[in-house]
Amino acid sequence: MTRQYLVAGNWKMNGSRAANAELLSGIAARVGSVDRVELLVCPPAVYLDSVRAALPVGVSLGAQNLSEQIKPGAFTGETHGAMLTELGCRYVLVGHSERRSLYGETNQLVADKFSTAQALGLIPILCIGETLEQREAGQTEAVLREQLAAVIARCGIASFGAAVVAYEPVWAIGTGKTATPAQAQTAHAFIRGLLAAQDATIAGSTRLLYGGSCKADNAAELFAGADIDGGLIGGAALKASDFMAIADAAQ
Ligand code: G3P
Repeated sequence: MTRQYLVAGNWKMNGSRAANAELLSGIAARVGSVDRVELLVCPPAVYLDSVRAALPVGVSLGAQNLSEQIKPGAFTGETHGAMLTELGCRYVLVGHSERRSLYGETNQLVADKFSTAQALGLIPILCIGETLEQREAGQTEAVLREQLAAVIARCGIASFGAAVVAYEPVWAIGTGKTATPAQAQTAHAFIRGLLAAQDATIAGSTRLLYGGSCKADNAAELFAGADIDGGLIGGAALKASDFMAIADAAQ
């Protein structure tokens, strides 16, 4: 089963009109050299409309979060999935570790967001990963199993036919302490095994992205993993040359 590589930029809470314009023009200048890799940018929600208007042809647009509410209404500060699709989003991140740790998103709420994203026509990128304490306590597989199981229980294994999973070891996010290629491949193989235990076809087609200090100088080694189908990039996504160097590494 061949899976198209996906290199996604999670801009997090970064950007300005000027910085976004510079980043997007830098991507536009290099996008022609990337043909077998899908590129995705996930700006802050307030910039989705302007980023879409300046997005180079062929680059997908995504959001960093959405409300779990199926119907719009009195949910101050929330963003409805239909608003994201209207603005041209194809993907949406759900369950990023920063939302889990800083904003208390539980496995159940993440599963609800995953379900709502699909119900409203978006492709969820489910973010899962262990903390350093959990890894050092030998709980990595238990944590990944629990995070994935919550979504499978809520949405069914077939739902992963229209989803992406991002393995982001929390201890590697923003720290410069990248997982070794072996650590990353081991976790990805475990995740794919969990999916395969339910449905081998779905497991074979689901793209598994690595996130956590993925940089231009380590991306090729990471992407060489048999079960690594691209990256979810934070800091390096904010500089076009770095982001596109990572995309080149996926070619
Ligand atoms: O969602 C991607 C992000 O969490 C990884 O951040 O800065 O370690 O690439 P960074």
